[in-house]
Amino acid sequence: MNQLDKKSEAWSALFSEPMSDLVKRYTASVFFDKRLWEADITGSLAHAEMLAAQSIISEADHASIQKGMAQIRHEIESGAFEWKLDLEDVHLNIEARLTQLVGDAGKRLHTGRSRNDQVATDVRLWLRSEMDVISGLLAELQRSLLSVAEKNADVILPGFTHLQVAQPVSFGHHMLAYVEMFARDAQRLADVRKRVNQLPLGSAALAGTTYPLDRERVAKTLGMEGVCQNSLDAVSDRDFAIEFTAAASIVMVHISRLSEELIIWMSQNFAFIKIADRFTTGSSIMPQKKNPDVPELARGKTGRVVGHLMGLITLMKGQPLAYNKDNQEDKEPLFDTVDTLKDTLRIFAEMMGGQLQADGSRQGGISVNPEAMERAALKGYATATDLADYLVKKGLPFRDAHEVVAHAVKFASERGMDLSDLPLDTLQSFNKGVEKDVYDVLSLRGSLNARNTLGGTAPAQVKLQIAKHQKRLAV
Ligand code: ARG
Repeated sequence: MNQLDKKSEAWSALFSEPMSDLVKRYTASVFFDKRLWEADITGSLAHAEMLAAQSIISEADHASIQKGMAQIRHEIESGAFEWKLDLEDVHLNIEARLTQLVGDAGKRLHTGRSRNDQVATDVRLWLRSEMDVISGLLAELQRSLLSVAEKNADVILPGFTHLQVAQPVSFGHHMLAYVEMFARDAQRLADVRKRVNQLPLGSAALAGTTYPLDRERVAKTLGMEGVCQNSLDAVSDRDFAIEFTAAASIVMVHISRLSEELIIWMSQNFAFIKIADRFTTGSSIMPQKKNPDVPELARGKTGRVVGHLMGLITLMKGQPLAYNKDNQEDKEPLFDTVDTLKDTLRIFAEMMGGQLQADGSRQGGISVNPEAMERAALKGYATATDLADYLVKKGLPFRDAHEVVAHAVKFASERGMDLSDLPLDTLQSFNKGVEKDVYDVLSLRGSLNARNTLGGTAPAQVKLQIAKHQKRLAV
């Protein structure tokens, strides 16, 4: 029996009794942290390679460790590996099995290492690879939204402020607003990745180690950008996980805003869009219903991810240097954040733009109802600002023009008419400067086309932006 198997009895000669079963369950993490197994093996192999290169262990031991780890990898992948609660966590489980398989060489792996620097390394390696998946998914979502924007650059809907009709905008422009948000999210993640991708290993328990380790070598083997420069900090801080979860929360907040709009747009009172049936659910009692469960759930799951951020950041706040067992609580929120984010991004990419086909086209995304959008834009005096701008161009100060138009809108709304329905002499009664060409600016399309400055909603601008994003996101 090796040292680690004895954990089912007492930790070491120092302890007079074994851990109680309740405490064992309370302190064990293996049933969630086994998810780190691949990172754990990768980290251990890099450590062993360096130990051998530095002649801290023999080449023969190194070879045995490699062979044993290959066997363990196989066992885990095939489901044959027996995870033991008694062995507390992923690290002790793998190390115990290694020692079972290769004897003393397995016991030498932990030379110059502690679970404290080991776990910090594993979490970073795991998170780095998940972040790479997430950044791919964010790019895919942007491409999907771009395809919706491209099809709808000329479609007009009311733009809102305070959820009151404000000015007409292009639906393509509206989609591009989200492309901008998700592009910033991707940048944020890329920035966080630099700080995730630093090596704690070699810090040992807290103070560094007496063996002549080559930490730079391990960092290089693991593809990390640098080595954590202070052992106390390296084993104890989880700011990289907090930062990631903050970035993930912002992505979810953006998803949640989009969700809220989809829900509003789908409601019969708007009827701006439909989402494909495979993303909706029916009601068990009301046969006519099609509910936007996916956007609603995404809005709800945003609370869950933001909650994880609160959990992680609070986890850190009272901890003295260096490692404390509190940090074991970093894993479940982090894992759940990653899972939630990946699923959400995948679903939204498909729900918005549709499923990517072999020829690069997309099928089955949201369907847009341009007539309903346009009707809604016509309802709320969306071109009132255009009338004011028109009067300014005729020489009126803007504040006066604003007041004139307010009178015109009041007059029209009392009669249930749109500004463009008012006859010329009526419009002239509000200001003499009004001429026949006023009707050009009172139309939705005229209003849209007039906003032709950088970042504006004129379809010409929208198309420029689409081309720019397509180039950026080209695969
Ligand atoms: N399972 C532990 C964690 O997740 C590994 C580190 C344990 N270190 C210790 N000194 N107890 O943090």
